[in-house]
Amino acid sequence: MSSSSSAQCPGDELKSARLIGVPVREGDQNLFLRLGLDPQVTALVGDGTPWSRERAVNRFRGGLAACEEGTAMWWVLYQRPATNHENLDDFVGFLVTELNDDEVELGIWLAPSHWSQGYASEVVHSVVPLLHIRFPDAQVVGYVAERHHASHRMLAAAGFRPDGQRTGRYGDTVIRHVHPRHSAG
Ligand SMILES: CC(C)(COP(=O)(O)OP(=O)(O)OC[C@H]1O[C@@H](n2cnc3c(N)ncnc32)[C@H](O)[C@@H]1OP(=O)(O)O)[C@@H](O)C(=O)NCCC(=O)NCCS
Repeated sequence: MSSSSSAQCPGDELKSARLIGVPVREGDQNLFLRLGLDPQVTALVGDGTPWSRERAVNRFRGGLAACEEGTAMWWVLYQRPATNHENLDDFVGFLVTELNDDEVELGIWLAPSHWSQGYASEVVHSVVPLLHIRFPDAQVVGYVAERHHASHRMLAAAGFRPDGQRTGRYGDTVIRHVHPRHSAG
């Protein structure tokens, strides 16, 4: 893992109708902490417990390292037109995609002030074709806590299909969703 101050995710900007995704760079850590340290945001993520600062920093740094290794793509999401990286008014959230063995897992975290406006469905729909191209041999998947209705609906809106229950990383029950390759585009 690189520890240079210029570390950043390689890759292109991502655009949907109302959002622009800018590849994550090291300086975005504080933006990530705004979400990772908000118990409302993490309530239905992983084990649902509030995150410590150390856990959030490690998650961010791990993601950045995976980006640099070519096994992840992370974007910071801003409302269009995004004037610059520093404008907090435009900040919407993070879209994270990570390759694990034969599947690329998608996750999305939005600031609560931007929930329920269709942003997540919109940008997930936009990123899926890119994931099929970038990781052609991997299944594009999402794992969602059983009771996380917004996420289930978001993935359904983006063309994912439920693929049954799994045991999550924390021993919880999650639903695996898969995006069929033939419906990408
Ligand atoms: C989950 C999350 C990304 C959804 O983002 P969003 O922009 O609010 O979602 P959308 O507005 O695109 O809505 C997606 C669907 O969920 C529904 N929805 C939105 N908020 C909801 C809620 N609180 N309860 C139930 N359904 C909800 C919408 O109606 C929509 O369904 P529809 O297409 O059938 O109408 C957002 O709530 C979030 O960032 N949560 C915290 C982090 C998190 O849990 N991430 C997902 C981990 S798997």
